[in-house]
Amino acid sequence: MTDAATTSTTSGVQGRSKLLDARDITKRFAGITALNHVDIDVEYGEMVGLIGPNGAGKTTLFNCLLGMLRPEEGSVTFDGREISALPVYKRARLGFGRTFQRLELFGGMTVRDHFLVTERQRNGSGRLWKDLLNLSKPTADEQARAQKMIDLLSLHKEADEPVESLSLGRGRLVELGRALMTEPKLLLLDEPSSGLDVKETAALAERLRIVQQDYEFAVLLVEHDVEMVQSLVTRLYVLDFGTMIASGPTAEVLGDAAVRKAYLGDMG
Ligand SMILES: Nc1ncnc2c1ncn2[C@@H]1O[C@H](COP(=O)(O)OP(=O)(O)OP(=O)(O)O)[C@@H](O)[C@H]1O
Ligand SMILES: [Mg+2]
Repeated sequence: MTDAATTSTTSGVQGRSKLLDARDITKRFAGITALNHVDIDVEYGEMVGLIGPNGAGKTTLFNCLLGMLRPEEGSVTFDGREISALPVYKRARLGFGRTFQRLELFGGMTVRDHFLVTERQRNGSGRLWKDLLNLSKPTADEQARAQKMIDLLSLHKEADEPVESLSLGRGRLVELGRALMTEPKLLLLDEPSSGLDVKETAALAERLRIVQQDYEFAVLLVEHDVEMVQSLVTRLYVLDFGTMIASGPTAEVLGDAAVRKAYLGDMG
């Protein structure tokens, strides 16, 4: 299903079907327009950035794409399918993965358990979290897949530690791993470097780059750390007060005067 009305962005590849194609998204909360006729698209396997000042609407856009919020206007097409009416869990099954702006891990559970629970959920075996929290015997296959993720993210040392004992940087890796266990076609990352120091941020970016090359999923990255953005994405969108004010190749967008004014505080 192609969208004939799609106009090319500066870097846009016209004519190819896109993994994600969201058009004309408008979301209002009482009194404010958090998203104002926003268009965004992501190609298969592409890493795209989304930046903008606090309150610009970045998380709101994620939630509209994921089905956690219903926009008043607009449509979302994913992997060739119009999904605007689908609930969150159906979108997840189609291949949306996400991490949260604030870590959403379960303190007492180990790293491995997080992966096992996600794996079982992915399989939709029908057992409940309650059951899983009691660790009803994971199968050999589940164990193997959890171990694979531990290997992939080099989490061996802390694999059987409760996540509450981990640093924030390692916690963010666990969250990334949990999102990857679902084998997303598109991974939405909401400020993954939040709370990390420079070294941890670089390590996370490096790890993300490696797994992305292996698994070839697409990424939509919301991130305040401009260096991380530059190191990962080739294309960038900029939201400001709910309006998409720029999009195009990363260097071009970051050099744009209006973007610098809105986002970088007019540092000239
Ligand atoms: N559930 C809600 N109810 C009312 N207003 C909301 C709600 N969620 C977000 N908003 C408002 O919508 C606007 C966009 O918020 P959003 O959280 O999407 O911004 P953001 O770009 O993610 O910001 P940040 O960089 O701080 O995470 C803000 O003005 C915010 O106060
Ligand atoms: Mg946000």
